Amino acid sequence: MVDDLWAGVDRLFGERLLGPDDALEQTLVASLEAGLPGIAVSPVQGKLLNLLARMVGARRILEVGTLGGYSALWLARALPPQGRLVTLELDPHHAEVARANLERAGVADRVEVVVGPAIESLRGLPGDQPFDVVFIDADKPGNPAYFAAALRLTRPGSVLVVDNVVRQGRIVTHPDDPAVMGVLELLDLVAAEPRVDATALQTVGTKGHDGLLVALVTA
Ligand code: SAH
Ligand code: DHB
Ligand code: MG
Repeated sequence: MVDDLWAGVDRLFGERLLGPDDALEQTLVASLEAGLPGIAVSPVQGKLLNLLARMVGARRILEVGTLGGYSALWLARALPPQGRLVTLELDPHHAEVARANLERAGVADRVEVVVGPAIESLRGLPGDQPFDVVFIDADKPGNPAYFAAALRLTRPGSVLVVDNVVRQGRIVTHPDDPAVMGVLELLDLVAAEPRVDATALQTVGTKGHDGLLVALVTA
């Protein structure tokens, strides 16, 4: 199967470029044991988020959709000691599992897990402390609202990344799926927004065929 080949290549890159990492692996194990769905970013995707944040010298990072804290751990590790990751999660059980994982990984001092509907949490964040990197990875119909609300919390030079914009090609084959509609609306919003310049990349690997939107705030 082609998916097995994609996963095999991901594993090879993981072995050669990432190596073993107890805290990240324990985060995935503990999340699955706690009953959370296995939908965290893949290791190579997590490393990409980590590198992007370091490339822009991020000191403040915002995440929408924490789950068990796997992508949060990759992002938190990109921060300097005084840096801050704010990660938003609807489900109190997911947030509790994430807090325990981030504590065990030694980054809890840099991370705040905020429980509640992300759109309300976003509205409660102060606009005078912009985020350098934003990772949007919660419910997909919420994408346009999260992107618009997060954009108000950025500055020129900030980077926004949105996960799952391809969904096995459903963006083309299932335009009426509410999750897909969230992505299509996001594309319209980005295209109409003069303050951002963006692209999207299809990805294959352990998470099948999917993709990431990457946007730069230009003004
Ligand atoms: N970023 C994580 C995966 C997130 S999965 C990782 O890669 O490790 C999506 C998460 O978004 C789930 O934990 C889900 O509970 C959360 N979520 C769903 N709807 C939400 C909402 N309205 N507000 C905040 N979080 C939400
Ligand atoms: C799903 C959500 C995700 O964020 C993801 O990366 C993969 C799958 C889902 O809801 O099915
Ligand atoms: Mg995702």
